[in-house]
Amino acid sequence: MRDFQTKSQVVTAGKRVILRDTISSDVESCLRWFSTGEHLLLDAPWERNYTTLQPEQIEKYKSAFAERCEQDKPDVRGNAIIATTANLPIGTVNRYGHKDNPYSCNLGISIQDDAYLNKGLGTEALQLWLNYQFSNTQVLRIGVETWSFNPRAIRVIENIGFKHEGTLRNLRKWEGQILDKLLFGLLREEWEQL
Ligand SMILES: CC(C)(COP(=O)(O)OP(=O)(O)OC[C@H]1O[C@@H](n2cnc3c(N)ncnc32)[C@H](O)[C@@H]1OP(=O)(O)O)[C@@H](O)C(=O)NCCC(=O)NCCS
Repeated sequence: MRDFQTKSQVVTAGKRVILRDTISSDVESCLRWFSTGEHLLLDAPWERNYTTLQPEQIEKYKSAFAERCEQDKPDVRGNAIIATTANLPIGTVNRYGHKDNPYSCNLGISIQDDAYLNKGLGTEALQLWLNYQFSNTQVLRIGVETWSFNPRAIRVIENIGFKHEGTLRNLRKWEGQILDKLLFGLLREEWEQL
């Protein structure tokens, strides 16, 4: 059975955004996203390394990036670039927590170019990614996690129909603020009804 395909392609498309494979020309955007954008403050900022990349690190990153773009892709993608319909990259989606359990996964999303925040594009992209994963895998549940300092993400997740399944209270302290982690999930049958 063929599990991989080589060509970069559009994974799924909506009215205003497409989810597609990474292409080599995305490298400048991806490099810029290391150091700019609101997402740096919202997407687990404690995991970030803020040191500026040195020229040799940038060159290394660029060549690894180009190599990755040429690699075979799994039939069902675990990550994708969010691009406008004019093919401008604006962010990323990913899937995790799926390797050891084919019946469940979590989704991540980040609009990394600030000019495209709050325009409905994140909602459309997350909806497309959710539909794609339910349609192409056998998962029974899809989860999304976010933090209490991100009311916009919470709104988008709830608008799409995810159920609030629980809160890990006072899980982390970050820049003087005590944070809860919020867990959301959607079951296959709930998605089918939506
Ligand atoms: C979270 C994210 C994907 C949402 O995408 P987006 O395109 O910016 O959001 P949309 O325009 O689709 O929708 C935003 C919704 O939140 C609402 N909203 C915006 N700011 C808000 C705030 N401060 N509090 C509550 N709701 C807010 C908007 O009114 C809208 O809801 P509505 O459609 O019911 O009116 C995007 O903002 C993002 O990637 N941010 C940076 C990284 C990040 O937060 N990552 C964590 C994702 S779990």
